[in-house]
Amino acid sequence: MTTPPIDPDFCVTTIAGTGSYLPERILTNADLQHMVDTSDEWITTRTGIKERRIAAEGQSTSDMAAEAARRAMESANVTADDLDLIIVATVSPDMFFPATACLVQDKIGARNAIAFDISAACSGFLFAMQVARHFINTGNRRTVLVIGAEKLSSLVNWDDRNTCVLFGDGAGAAVLKRIDNGGDQPGRVVSTVMGTDGSLAHLLRVPGGGAACPITPDNADQRLNTIHMEGRETFKHAVTRMCHASEEALAKAGLKASDVTLLIPHQANHRIISAIGERLGVPAERTFVNLDRYGNTSAATIPIALDEARRSGRLKRGDIVLLVAFGGGFTWASSVIAW
Ligand code: ACO
Repeated sequence: MTTPPIDPDFCVTTIAGTGSYLPERILTNADLQHMVDTSDEWITTRTGIKERRIAAEGQSTSDMAAEAARRAMESANVTADDLDLIIVATVSPDMFFPATACLVQDKIGARNAIAFDISAACSGFLFAMQVARHFINTGNRRTVLVIGAEKLSSLVNWDDRNTCVLFGDGAGAAVLKRIDNGGDQPGRVVSTVMGTDGSLAHLLRVPGGGAACPITPDNADQRLNTIHMEGRETFKHAVTRMCHASEEALAKAGLKASDVTLLIPHQANHRIISAIGERLGVPAERTFVNLDRYGNTSAATIPIALDEARRSGRLKRGDIVLLVAFGGGFTWASSVIAW
């Protein structure tokens, strides 16, 4: 069993519990065949996705986030009163303001917490975990709820076959806790690296609907308030950046890819996931995939996968878990967790 050293720059922070929520409605590839010119065969071979979940009428990002949060609090054995910080990572907030995190705070009754959102697209959950870790490190906060939640069905152009087959809705959450005695605990965050490259923002974005390009009656038919993506370019950068970030996070933890018991990559495309596994040298049986069932839920993919891995018994004491993500911005991040 490899026990990575405790980072002298950080106090010990652990993932004390996880939770996730997926809406009930399932949209299959067969359903999509009736909506756009596509096929189950094309979607499966190009992406690995078979079905995705779609939020119910009236169900918002904060509703899904609150449900995932309740499940994470239960698993961490903490109450809403114990929380002193809530961070929601999302690119599909309920509204521009207030922050979705404030809406979640109200829904779960976390009266002692402060709450804010961060926007880092598919890397959002790992960015939020690292922000939480810094708050915990200063001694300012002790028990932090970190959530990745998305209602991407509200940002998808359902007439665009290039993008509408890729995305889904859902939420995942984790409770992070400060451990004062410096002792080793399951779920210890060992190392994290993050990066961004704004010069490539144009390759993956929602160009309209914000202050730079408000939606008006004149431009409404251009669907500028939906996801626009250069798929091939995004694919290439995703593989390169996720491999480098993984290697950096492992090096920072004093570990090698062969030490990784479970790789939990952002769930965007099975070809991206396979390429990362091959380049790093982590075999498929040590890679977690639920992309086939949920599609790409952006900031929610990693916490949902982490929660499913934990609940299904795939995480055991002594395991080394490698989390890695890439998304619009571009943004990327990787974390090593010692379970
Ligand atoms: N059904 C059938 N045909 C399709 C569909 C579809 N749903 N979508 C595109 N096509 C067609 C295209 O029109 C094109 O046809 P043409 O050759 O006649 O022009 C053909 O399929 C090939 O299109 P490409 O875009 O070259 O297909 P590619 O093999 O690159 O796969 C995909 C596209 C799946 C989007 C891939 O590029 C990809 O996964 N990129 C990564 C993007 C991603 O995951 N983004 C999410 C956010 S970032 C992240 O999470 C990592």
